[in-house]
Amino acid sequence: MKLKVSVIGTGYLGATHAACMSTLGFEVIGVDIDAAKIALLSSGKVPFYEPGLEELLQQELASGRLTFSTDLRAIADADVHFICVGTPQSENSLAADLKFVDAALDAIAPICKPGSLVVGKSTVPVGTAARLRERLLKVNPKVDLAWNPEFLREGFAVEDTLKPNRLVVGVVNDAAEAKLKEIYKTNLEANTPWVRADLPTSELVKVAANSFLATKISFINAMAEVCEAAGGDVTVLAKAIGYDPRIGSRFLQAGIGFGGGCLPKDIRAFMARAGELGADQALEFLREIDSINLRARQRVIELVRKDLTDNLSGKKIAVLGAAFKPDSDDVRDSPALDIAVQIAAAGATVTIHDPKAIEPAKKRFPTLNYSENIEEALSGADLVLHLTEWKVYRELDPAKMKSLVASPIIIDGRNALDREAWIAAGWKFRALGRSEI
Ligand code: UGA
Repeated sequence: MKLKVSVIGTGYLGATHAACMSTLGFEVIGVDIDAAKIALLSSGKVPFYEPGLEELLQQELASGRLTFSTDLRAIADADVHFICVGTPQSENSLAADLKFVDAALDAIAPICKPGSLVVGKSTVPVGTAARLRERLLKVNPKVDLAWNPEFLREGFAVEDTLKPNRLVVGVVNDAAEAKLKEIYKTNLEANTPWVRADLPTSELVKVAANSFLATKISFINAMAEVCEAAGGDVTVLAKAIGYDPRIGSRFLQAGIGFGGGCLPKDIRAFMARAGELGADQALEFLREIDSINLRARQRVIELVRKDLTDNLSGKKIAVLGAAFKPDSDDVRDSPALDIAVQIAAAGATVTIHDPKAIEPAKKRFPTLNYSENIEEALSGADLVLHLTEWKVYRELDPAKMKSLVASPIIIDGRNALDREAWIAAGWKFRALGRSEI
């Protein structure tokens, strides 16, 4: 008999995990306290943009294996319960807010059937899993808890869930590991590396991985600052160092830095937790990683001022991109949107275009101007800012775009456009970490 799976929290991580578990043949129930979200998912609609997920959701709903509910009691007969709720940054500190994880655990603890396994997937401060396990066993001694961090990237969520580059399981005993091996049988047959760890190590793996990625991005953005000062070109530098396999070329794209719902809050929560553990010195460097990252946004704004005189008042600026990265409609801590907001606050008239993120951006900043049409956004602009590297922007015809703007100045905040082509079409082209030519 195949195991029955429940997924608690059907946000970005949970909805993807539920649909993917169903494709593996498990009977899956996804639960959430948000009735609107559950209604949408039940009708085959994904409440956010994630390539390929909606098709998969509809296919799995049709198979009859996947269902959604707001009634938590629906999880009672599942064998494995995945906790996929969010752990946002606290409102008044750098630490993660664990209220959703705690609430989920407390809600399911009394109703999990004997022998079932609770598996945390949310990103949590080290020590949380052991604390939750103790709390769970007090209420329900016949169940167990494991931790299985998730490494999926937005924009590749389905692929990363179905074909992860590794599986990490934090367990206290062999029985929990055996059950997780049953869940991930398909991956194990495909030789996906399997790492068994204790609970704290499994929690640390996740934040260490995100800290490393953030460090890599801030490293190249620090090099961009030096390149600017020295007249170098960070894109050539990144290419050259990336050929060393010990360094690798990925995550060396210099620009306006990292944002989103994970990297920024994870490095901050990691620092906060290290402080509590008395290991704050070890992570002091992450403070610098955060500062370099936030500084990149200011450096773009300085470039804008340099090109448009210090007074931005009355200037028309077209912003290409609002999402924190392409192939996503997520605007949480989006560097692009942050820059747009700051420039608008300085008096410029900003019009934002994004292929998918206009609605979420509008919800956050309703007073900014938005346009669904690139040409309309560029029309009459004194300056164009390229801030999220969607493919559609790389495919723009610089000559045609030049005919729309009042003044052909473009700042490539992602080092993703073809500089030579834009210059050849008569644009003044600026980018972070590259001197003017
Ligand atoms: C990140 C991690 O990459 C995932 O492995 C992890 O599972 C996830 O967080 C999570 O904790 O849930 P994600 O937030 O989807 O995934 O985004 P990334 O692809 O890591 O990009 C993060 C930010 O870095 C974006 O704003 C992106 O534009 C920026 N970035 C990325 C750069 O500025 N330069 C680069 O070279 C790469």
